[in-house]
Amino acid sequence: MKKICLLFLILPSILIFQSCNNISSSTKTTKNDSNQDANIERKVDSVLALMNLNEKIGQMVQYAASWDVTGPASSEGNKFKEEKLKKGEVGSMLNVTSVKAVREAQKLVMENSRLKIPLIFGYDVIHGYETIFPIPLGESASWDLEIIRKSAEVAAIETSAAGVQWTFAPMLDVSRDARWGRIMEGAGEDPYLSSKIGVARINGFQGDDLSKNNTIAACAKHFAGYGFGEAGRDYNTVNIGEHELHNAVLPPFKAAAEAGVATFMNSFNEIDGIPATASKKLQRDLLKGEWAWNGFVVSDWASIAEMIAHGYAKDKKHAAELALNAGSDMDMESYAYEAELEKLLEENKVKLSDIDDAVRRILRVKFQLGLFDDPYRYCDEEREKNEIYTKEHLEIARDVAKKSIVLLKNDTVTTKKSALLPLSKSVKSIAVIGPLADDKDTPLGNWRGKGKYNSAVSLLEGVKSAAGDDTKIYYEKGIELTSKTVAPGENQFLHLMEFNTTDRSGISAAVAAAKKADVVLLAIGENAFQTGEGRSQTKIGFAGLQQELLEAVYAVNKNVVIVLMNGRPMDITWAAENVPTILECWHLGSQSGFAIADVLFGDYNPSGKLPVSFPYNVGQEPLYYNQKSTGRPMSTQVTYSGYNDAPKVALYPFGHGLSYTNFSYGNVSLDKAEMAKDGEIQVSVNVTNNGTRDGEEVVQLYIRDLVGSLTRPIKELKGFEKTMLKAGESKVISFTINTETLQFYTAKNKWEVEPGDFNVWVGGSSTTKNKAEFVVN
Ligand code: NOJ
Repeated sequence: MKKICLLFLILPSILIFQSCNNISSSTKTTKNDSNQDANIERKVDSVLALMNLNEKIGQMVQYAASWDVTGPASSEGNKFKEEKLKKGEVGSMLNVTSVKAVREAQKLVMENSRLKIPLIFGYDVIHGYETIFPIPLGESASWDLEIIRKSAEVAAIETSAAGVQWTFAPMLDVSRDARWGRIMEGAGEDPYLSSKIGVARINGFQGDDLSKNNTIAACAKHFAGYGFGEAGRDYNTVNIGEHELHNAVLPPFKAAAEAGVATFMNSFNEIDGIPATASKKLQRDLLKGEWAWNGFVVSDWASIAEMIAHGYAKDKKHAAELALNAGSDMDMESYAYEAELEKLLEENKVKLSDIDDAVRRILRVKFQLGLFDDPYRYCDEEREKNEIYTKEHLEIARDVAKKSIVLLKNDTVTTKKSALLPLSKSVKSIAVIGPLADDKDTPLGNWRGKGKYNSAVSLLEGVKSAAGDDTKIYYEKGIELTSKTVAPGENQFLHLMEFNTTDRSGISAAVAAAKKADVVLLAIGENAFQTGEGRSQTKIGFAGLQQELLEAVYAVNKNVVIVLMNGRPMDITWAAENVPTILECWHLGSQSGFAIADVLFGDYNPSGKLPVSFPYNVGQEPLYYNQKSTGRPMSTQVTYSGYNDAPKVALYPFGHGLSYTNFSYGNVSLDKAEMAKDGEIQVSVNVTNNGTRDGEEVVQLYIRDLVGSLTRPIKELKGFEKTMLKAGESKVISFTINTETLQFYTAKNKWEVEPGDFNVWVGGSSTTKNKAEFVVN
């Protein structure tokens, strides 16, 4: 604070003086505080008034710490960045982590530049900083908004304790394609669920006061359409109609803007011929215009320069012009703004008012974070020492992880006359088999922040800690999953994985272990780096020799529980048709093995539900429950919209997930059968826990608008409630249907409710048949 005031005092202006007095007051997030907002606006204006053009353009530049677009940076490259920092011609840095590193970089600016405008530091904290939580797709399977908020809050505490005050999360890209590696980073295929989960994550990161030193700015990404790349290929072309864009892709982003997310990131893909980075329609007209959102938009990594490769910009200068005019405020690692904006301004190809607007937005967020009060606000060595990877955070990670597990299948096995799960703690023997059974790294998942190599609790460790003293545990790895993976500390973006393993020498030992055990826990699925950015696949079954291992083990012992660890919906059809029990465990993070054991032994009754559909085979992709009917939904002849060689529905549908108890649903009851367009209907259902164990159920509400000015999906999730029911207990769960539930982006290009007939379903998955009908007048 002192430094900034000193600086301002050089320039005699009442405005500036006022600004210094106000600068020390604490600042709040964008939510509902008009006095604070007005205060911040005054301060932003007063700083902007001091800035020359180079300093303004500098605020719009973001550099990475240690590597540039073409690969690891040379020390020369970093030297150049250092000089720019000293001149105050950089607004932000990414990938600078630790209090020491942040302090050093911030000092370059604070001790050398003319205006001493603090940097904002960003980092990809996607599912935890060092305490690693389940991958976002897995965590979304909890349908538990409070624990999702909590996990983001813990991530914010750890991130800010390491000096960083901005995460590039949450990813809000709805995705319907299991081939897309980044499906692991979102909340699945449904816009409503993605909106709710996105807002929970934003609230967790940002808290209710962005200026606190333990909350961080969030970033809604990737705006927009990135999850709809053709053929599931990362960065690929998106062809999506205007209405589908509004109805299926944009809702989570609108919800994020309304929740006061501090920043947005645009996306690599084009939509309908226009790269999102150059989309004025999305950024300037919709986000900043219609939605009146006042944060700043950062480009994705080099997405401005990549418009040259897209064939949309003829050179970097043209790319900078397109991006700024479209409303991209900050240039992440394209070096386009710093090189070209001044010339573009001279040539009248961009407007000073647009540069000012971008700078204003960036300064606003810096004020909200309290960085002008104290540029070292997040640099607290004590916090760094005491608040990262704590016991308490690990306990929360275990809680989130166990709630993210989905019991896909748990059939009664004839020899036991019961299902395999939950396991009794006095089971005589367990064979823990598979390439992922004692893997302490894969559960950390792809975007593992500062999660340390091999730091997760493995399944084997979890089972050993939970099983009774007399239980014999036989462990056999059987096979290696990969022939080449990403080595510890290696930059994963530079390496592909390989699965051409041929070593079968461990299979016989695995079979022998399976033969002598009461039950087999078979840990198979995907390596951590099979999903994530750039990890698209055309095959989504068990890679390498895993299927062979599965069949060999199953041949000698039918009591197999598959413990599936993966980042995308997989083709597990053979397993589903043969093996009695499948537990979907995603990549669950630091506490993976403990959380899985909690569920295996029944210390926790599984409550997760799928946020994505699991196909019978990859040829069905993109597959999603909320599809359209088509003119030929079914027929007794071949000429209908299906396949000759596979079902058209999912193997495990969206919303599916079992429990160790059974829930039954009463009929859907409505308080009236008709409503006005702006009216309401109350929907209630009696839900009963018929079993002998307490358990949580995710009660889901779906609707269908039968006839519209545009065709409507056959079912759409519009509400859910996760509720605990004691054994034998019944509860009435109620939902309100109103305008918000029924509106869609219609043929008139407006969000509105259209009169007509509707169906409403309430049940435990998207395939529920528990239906009622009503009319909107
Ligand atoms: C590219 C990714 O698409 C984006 O999500 C990420 O935040 C940036 N790289 C920065 O690492």
